[in-house]
Amino acid sequence: MLEYVLYHSRCVFQDFHISDLDILRTAISANEEHGLTGFLHREAGYFVQYYEGPKDKVEQLTANLMRDTRHYDFTIIGQGQVEARRFADWSMGYSGPKTAQMGLDVQDDQDFPLKAAVVIDHLLGFAQRI
Ligand SMILES: Cc1cc2nc3c(=O)[nH]c(=O)nc-3n(C[C@H](O)[C@H](O)[C@H](O)COP(=O)(O)O)c2cc1C
Repeated sequence: MLEYVLYHSRCVFQDFHISDLDILRTAISANEEHGLTGFLHREAGYFVQYYEGPKDKVEQLTANLMRDTRHYDFTIIGQGQVEARRFADWSMGYSGPKTAQMGLDVQDDQDFPLKAAVVIDHLLGFAQRI
């Protein structure tokens, strides 16, 4: 059984910032190594992130996130177990309010807007149900 966490936090930088790329670079490589998948969204000065994977790796990432100074007011809004991954193909998908993008590892973004909308609906709908 896999664990998941869904949280929101306040961004230190209100709009898309170069440090987002550092976050994504770390997330994409480290998450792949640790068997974590998920999605990061930023909007209106908030990050909303969902991640899932083995319990020990999820707990380690939560501990890292809690002391990361690129955001604050880290607030867990859902956590628990999932039988199957919700974001199986994404080491960390990403979207922002202006230029929505998927994770940097995605080569073909032709059909991105549709996919992102589906994922964001899923993420927010999921947040509302828990
Ligand atoms: C909004 C946000 C999202 C992040 N998402 C991830 C992530 O999905 N995976 C990851 O490994 N690090 C992520 N990080 C970075 C971690 O906080 C931390 O820097 C990273 O796990 C490396 O920790 P370490 O330097 O203690 O090894 C994120 C940071 C922020 C601010």
